[in-house]
Amino acid sequence: MNLKVEGGDVAAWKGDGIVVNLFEGVTSPVGATSAVDKALNGLIGKLIASGDVKGKFGNAAIVHTIDKLPAARVCVVGLGKENEFTLDRARHAAANGAKALRGAGAQKIAVVAAGGANAADAAQATAEGVVMGLWRFPKYKGEKENNEVEEAVIVENDAAKKSDVERGVARGKILGDATNFARDLANEPGNAMTPTRLAEIAGEMAKQNGLEFFVIDRAKAKELGMGSFLGVAQGSDEPPAMIVLRYWGAGKDAAPGFGIVGKGITFDSGGISLKPGENMQDMKGDMSGGAATIAAMSAIAQLKPKINVTGVVAATENMPSGKAFKPGDILRAMNGKTIEIINTDAEGRLVLADAVAYASGTLKLSPIIDAATLTGAMVIALGNVRTGVFANDDAWAKMVCDTGNEIGEKMWHMPMDDEYAEQIKSDWADMKNTGGRPGGSITGAWVIRNFVADGTEWAHLDIAGTANTGGGKDRGYINQWGTGVPTRTFVNLALRLADKK
Ligand code: BES
Ligand code: MN
Ligand code: ZN
Repeated sequence: MNLKVEGGDVAAWKGDGIVVNLFEGVTSPVGATSAVDKALNGLIGKLIASGDVKGKFGNAAIVHTIDKLPAARVCVVGLGKENEFTLDRARHAAANGAKALRGAGAQKIAVVAAGGANAADAAQATAEGVVMGLWRFPKYKGEKENNEVEEAVIVENDAAKKSDVERGVARGKILGDATNFARDLANEPGNAMTPTRLAEIAGEMAKQNGLEFFVIDRAKAKELGMGSFLGVAQGSDEPPAMIVLRYWGAGKDAAPGFGIVGKGITFDSGGISLKPGENMQDMKGDMSGGAATIAAMSAIAQLKPKINVTGVVAATENMPSGKAFKPGDILRAMNGKTIEIINTDAEGRLVLADAVAYASGTLKLSPIIDAATLTGAMVIALGNVRTGVFANDDAWAKMVCDTGNEIGEKMWHMPMDDEYAEQIKSDWADMKNTGGRPGGSITGAWVIRNFVADGTEWAHLDIAGTANTGGGKDRGYINQWGTGVPTRTFVNLALRLADKK
């Protein structure tokens, strides 16, 4: 889709449909909505008076312009109450409008950025909403969905704001595209998205964006002592890949910089501790953290913050076989620590143990953050709404939560008291890989934490509930199935860390 900015009066814009905004409770429209209303001889005002259009958040009402405007249709999207307005509502509203117009057959649409004091931020949110909202995954369907929106134009009437709007839209496009990239990767089935293919795609992306790229293959991982990662990989016929992407925004003489680590299990069968069949197909998305890592690196490369950033994705399948690792096995990670396997289905923490040890200990990255579809317990605790944040440093956890919450990827800081670590004490190794059902997400986080090098600030995002919509319905810019979370949080953290320096 082509996304651009045009100046001038939206009522004079020619195309298939215009998205305008309305706050709930407003009786006479203002701004661009008013300009369109006037051209329609007060139709929008009448629809508000009759109660047909209410401006409720989530609503999208299409009216045909019967040639009163050069555009064929107007879609009035609800922003909800003005005092409850957030940029995330602008994102959702833009998505709702774009999707409604697409449903009506529109291919060329105009969108008016919603409210907010800052024109660049409003334009960015609107662009993100349109780009993410129009995403879907028809790749493997023979019968194609109806039309796609080919061009979306953000129309700004105030000439003084136009350059801000252009800057915001450019940023929003990069962030929206990156999120959609992560969604595409997560949606791909396991037979298409193997560790080898994921590495190939990461390599192509790196080439396009001028990133350093290399893969630690099975032989190299063995040399480095990544026994925990390799333990998980040993049951699969697909070769594993520890994917590394490096962006040198501050130069090689500066600090190694920010580290982003993703769980890249391209299919999680549970291994010898085989999962039940029900919903096992969803485990194609067990590389969503890795997908977000790769996608975030592509956006970071384009936004060019003055900071060094490295992405590490621990990619492998988790399969049962005659070669597979077993309960009772003891694995040794690259930092020398040993893990007794209780359940081979707790494999995410095992691949992250080596990835996090590599990022913090070998590459000396700090702060670091990892994202993983780690535990079913996280879905029980926070559902599909918030991502659980676990950290060894409260200030870093706060920065992560604040960033996610501000950009619409909701977070919640979870506890990591020492008492929980008791649950993973082992009789035979430095730790066990599971700690029983109580606090299952916390004990999972503790396993990973044990592999963070001393002095490194670390946060872990358990995205088991937020990486995909599960059985949920489409809502605003979030469509079935992969959500792309936490791509935008990763990118925004890199931008903020660069500004802090
Ligand atoms: N990938 C799963 C976690 C998961 C479950 C993500 C459901 C999304 C939806 C992870 O590898 C796993 O199997 N975790 C186990 C850990 C347990 C054996 C301690 C779980 O949560 O059941
Ligand atoms: Mn598992
Ligand atoms: Zn898993």
